[in-house]
Amino acid sequence: MKTYRIALIPGDGIGMEVIPAGVKVLEAAARAEKSFALEFEPFEWGCEYYLRTGRMMPEDGLERLRPFDAIYLGAIGHPTVPDHISLRDLLLRIRFTFDLYVNLRPVEILPGLKSPLAGKGPSDINMLFIRENSEGEYAGLGGRFKRGMADEVAIQSSVFTRKGVERIMRYAFEQARRRPRKRLASATKSNAMQYAMVMWDEILREVGRDYPDVAVANYHVDALAARMITHPESLDVVVGSNLFADILTDIGGALQGSLGLAVSANLNPTERLGPPIFEPVHGSAPDIEGRGIANPIAAIWSCALMMEHLGELATAERTMRALGAVTGEGRVRTPDLGGKNTTSEFAAAVVDKMS
Ligand code: NAI
Ligand code: MG
Repeated sequence: MKTYRIALIPGDGIGMEVIPAGVKVLEAAARAEKSFALEFEPFEWGCEYYLRTGRMMPEDGLERLRPFDAIYLGAIGHPTVPDHISLRDLLLRIRFTFDLYVNLRPVEILPGLKSPLAGKGPSDINMLFIRENSEGEYAGLGGRFKRGMADEVAIQSSVFTRKGVERIMRYAFEQARRRPRKRLASATKSNAMQYAMVMWDEILREVGRDYPDVAVANYHVDALAARMITHPESLDVVVGSNLFADILTDIGGALQGSLGLAVSANLNPTERLGPPIFEPVHGSAPDIEGRGIANPIAAIWSCALMMEHLGELATAERTMRALGAVTGEGRVRTPDLGGKNTTSEFAAAVVDKMS
């Protein structure tokens, strides 16, 4: 029997609450499927670890993660540590070193849940965001000059490479081709960013020649943000740079009804330098941490994405079916969706539906 080894990095805040909930659901799905086993190894890396040791993860952390089949991550970041340290030294280090260049983020309405957009339902809001995850605005290049002085200068450079843009475009076109509507929208800002975004647009057109069956639209990112609200039904697959798609997908979470619903996978579909990461889009939510009321839906959905990418399609479907059965009934809900239930009550309800 095949055994999948999963590295658990619950991280900070509600990450430590939603990951155990997801693990319970995943274990139940694997038990029901009976065709593979799961082995979990927890890593207590994050802001508390940083305050104890001065690092977000040990020096050999990446080497320790490398042999795993997948990483299941909660959220990294806490008011006790500056965000640029916590994000860069853990999550971004893993993404960049393992070259997980695709960040996949579906925006869909689960059964029984309502989008806050009046009159728009599951058939109107069904998008797949493909966020470039390995370069762009997150490259971390730059510096500060005359720190604290009145004429201080800060420079933050974006990095866009032909290789990096081409591979994310190709992946986005492949995804669009597989979906019924076969549409791809790209987020640009070529009017203001005449080097990076003009190259981005050129590569969109070049790669697009290999996909004549996919309808392409090119929108400035600000107009695209508005379009997500005014005409969500016009969007199918959307490709964007690291920063643009990060921002747009929080709008996606809001369209879904709560940030607690937005899910993501960090993948390298062409080459394995390390395991992929599956994680909720949301952060550690310090405003609700420790109360056991975080919505675990994104964390549970992450498990389904993980199973899909490990090739366990039946388990992925079973998990989504159980999740959809609970949201569809609407009896068990966490407070962000207007309910009174706890994180673990919700997870237990999903486990109950796992026949
Ligand atoms: P956040 O996503 O943690 O919270 C934003 C709002 O959404 C809060 O009001 C929170 O209560 C609510 N929320 C988020 N997830 C929820 C859930 N599952 N159930 C119910 N409500 C939920 O974003 P924020 O406050 O900007 O960041 C907090 C910390 O998390 C920061 O340190 C930030 O750097 C970090 N962060 C980490 C991410 C990651 O590890 N991938 C992503 C985003 C933020
Ligand atoms: Mg974000």
